Order: sequence, then C-alpha cells, then structure tokens
Amino acid sequence: MKIFIDTADIEEIKEAKKWGILDGVTTNPSLIKKAVEKFEERGISMEEYIKEICRIVDGPVSLEVKALDADEMIKEAEILYDKFNDVNNNVVIKIPINTAMSKEDKIFEGIEAIKELNNRDIPTNATLVMTPTQALLAAKAGATYVSPFLGRIDDYIRSKLGIKFGKWDLFRGKIVKKIEEKKQEEKKGEMPLLYSEMASVEYGDNGIYDGIEMVESIVKIYRAYGFKTKIIAASVRNVYQVRKVAEMGVDIATIPFNVIKEMICHYKTMEGMKKFTEDVVEEYKRIFE
Ligand code: G3P
Repeated sequence: MKIFIDTADIEEIKEAKKWGILDGVTTNPSLIKKAVEKFEERGISMEEYIKEICRIVDGPVSLEVKALDADEMIKEAEILYDKFNDVNNNVVIKIPINTAMSKEDKIFEGIEAIKELNNRDIPTNATLVMTPTQALLAAKAGATYVSPFLGRIDDYIRSKLGIKFGKWDLFRGKIVKKIEEKKQEEKKGEMPLLYSEMASVEYGDNGIYDGIEMVESIVKIYRAYGFKTKIIAASVRNVYQVRKVAEMGVDIATIPFNVIKEMICHYKTMEGMKKFTEDVVEEYKRIFE
C-alpha cells in the first residue's frame, strides 16, 4: 500500500519524506487554507509554495479545482497542470465527484470534467466520494484515482445515530450492524433501526454502516470489473482505519501527519526500549568505541 500524506504543510511533507515512507501528497482547499501562514512566514507566494511541494515530493501531488461547472473545472485543471506539472511531472487534478450544493444544482459536472480530462491525458482524483456507486461512476468516467472519505462517512452515520464524537474517535459500524440484526431477529423481520433511518435520508447510503465498509465495497466493485482507477482511502482519522484498508489491499491511503506518527507508536515498544537501554553492559558498549 502506498502512503500519501494528507496535508499542504510543507514542514510535515519534508518530515515524512525524511522518514522514507512518503509516496505522494493530497491537498484540498481547506488544507491549503491551513497552510497560508506557512508560505506567508517564508515570504513567498502561494504559487512558489506549491511549486516547492511538487519539487520535493517524488510521487503524485493532488491539487483541487475550485469551479463548480464542467467547463470551468476543465479550464482550472489546465491552469493547475500548466503551472505546476512542469516542476516535477507529478500533478494530479482533484475533481469533486458532484459539485451540487443544492437540489437545483446540476449533479454530473464533476463526472463530465473527469471524462474530458481523461481524454486530454490529465490525471484526475475524484474527490468527496461518499458512496460505492459514486466510485463506480468515477471509474467509468476514467478517473486515475478515487478518494472515498472514510472519516466523514463515520461522522455522518454517528451524527444520524445521535452519537457524540470527536474528530479522531474510533467508530465501528459493524457493531451497530450486529445489534440491529439481533433486534431484527427479535422483532421478526422489521427493518433495522439505522438502516430505516438512513433510507429516509436524502441521497441514499447504499446501506453502508461505516467508512471501512464503504471502501470494502469499492474494492469489491473495482476488482469485479478490473477498473484501473486506483483507490485512495481518504479522510483517514485513526490507525485502525489504516490497518483495515491495508488488509483489504487498497492501493493508497492518504493519511494526516498525526496519524502517520501514531502508526509507529506502541507503549510496549517504548517500554522495551527503556529496558534494552538499561541492560546495555559495559563490555557491549566497548564494541562501539
Ligand atoms: O483527503 C481528504 C481529507 O483531506 C478530508 O479529511 O479529515 O477533513 O475529513 P477530513
């Protein structure tokens, strides 16, 4: 599994590169917004800052368009590609799978843009993917990458269930599913609680119980039809999600800096280190002199 870092913070990117585990970078407008002070501190323009990111990363760097309709998104994709791809030949254009913000908006602009950029050989990353069927359409349109947002699906389901949570809290929808199945058995075939709740929410959920299950479903669909689109598990919030997507053989996980750091930590490793350090005898130390 490749590891991308989900950040526009150049210090974090440099640090992860030093560790030797970095295969790429994903950004979005919110991450770029967070990084504004980073390039202001350096006294350079945003363009220079993004060029520097492209230069130091040996792997794809996703940059997102801001437009909402297909023609504008294609124009912006060309601009991003022209400005930044020359630096290190690694730019990927992030296109929202569906740019609609209300029911009245058009819903296929993202897909149209992905299709056209594919025709123009500009690599794309279909973003804000929340369902397996959106991922199916992204692959059909020829997206190079698809980014299902695990964490945000967990947030959405937890909110619907009335569960209070912090951004980094673990959620296992499978447990909720088990409870529902049990209840269903007792009530002899009545619709499980969560599912009926979800079914009534606008824009269906395909009966998905958590972010991990969404990615599992996308992996299954892509394997069934041999789609070439690479899956980037995105909106990753904890080490459990990293392990689960790695187990299912996902191509890439884009992981925030703090979660990458958690991946290397364990209390028993730390405890073991203390003991090994204490136990180094003088004779052994002399070998290194
Ligand atoms: O790559 C997608 C990511 O940036 C969204 O993450 O944590 O804001 O849901 P999050």
